[in-house]
Amino acid sequence: MFKFRGTFFLPDIYKPEILEQVEDFSVRDDDVFIVTYPKSGTTWMQNIMALVFLEGDVKPLENVVISQKVPWLEVQLNVIQAMPSPRQISSHLPYHLMPKEIRDKSSKVIYVMRNPKDTLVSFYYFYNMVKCLDTPKDFQDFLEKFINGQVFIGSWFEHVRGWQENSHPNMLWLTYEEMKKNYIRVRTQDLAVSDCACLQDLPAVVWKICKFVGKHLTEEQVLEVVKHSSFKAMKANPSVNKEDLDSVFDLTKGKFMRKGKVGDWKNHFTVAQNEWFDTV
Ligand code: A3P
Repeated sequence: MFKFRGTFFLPDIYKPEILEQVEDFSVRDDDVFIVTYPKSGTTWMQNIMALVFLEGDVKPLENVVISQKVPWLEVQLNVIQAMPSPRQISSHLPYHLMPKEIRDKSSKVIYVMRNPKDTLVSFYYFYNMVKCLDTPKDFQDFLEKFINGQVFIGSWFEHVRGWQENSHPNMLWLTYEEMKKNYIRVRTQDLAVSDCACLQDLPAVVWKICKFVGKHLTEEQVLEVVKHSSFKAMKANPSVNKEDLDSVFDLTKGKFMRKGKVGDWKNHFTVAQNEWFDTV
């Protein structure tokens, strides 16, 4: 990894000269940014966002890698500059590395947060798969690195705090956990979407996103977004499961769409590790 203004990046994917240019990137008022710390459900939100803007129509996404539709600010700057509005843009950047103009424009930010313990576990498996990253010695080794911010994108705590301290009315805060809630009930009982406003689950999250970005979808269209954003659907979808990125990932060591569950940390943390994490 290399450090750029205090944050760690992967050498084969990120370039200091591009990261430098992000600061002066020209933001448009109708841009929507998806911001996450790694392993918090970024790909999931990219897929949802693309489908919201396509009003639930999955056809234009077939055979298109999701990062072409919702590209990465810190990697695909030229692509984004040439995109027509409204643009949907992804980023893992901490707040202080974002474009200066994000402070003044009425562009929108959706920040997806995940329980850091599950984020850490997902990150641990990710580290085992990414070819240019040193494989952690064991879980304890990775836990120490995560807590000390010695990982790609740095400290989870600083990332969340940096964004929280600069939160504004054009920001929508969502959690991985609320996107998972009650989902089985919706699938099995085909709950009407209009009933979801008071619920916290994926249809309710999709409604919130539509309202936030000013898209007016029908109930059927929302349910299409939900259907194509399930873990099962995304695991089977080559456009989002990163199997095209075999130069980056060693797919014999794991899958990008790994478990998609809340609470997997309980299968990995010892009691002592959990107590230490809680203290931090
Ligand atoms: P796990 O490793 O815990 O399975 P990111 O896209 O930010 O790298 O996050 C990847 C994590 O999000 C992985 O977590 C992945 O399985 C999970 N994920 C991706 N799509 C999902 C979906 N539709 N439902 C639930 N989890 C999903």
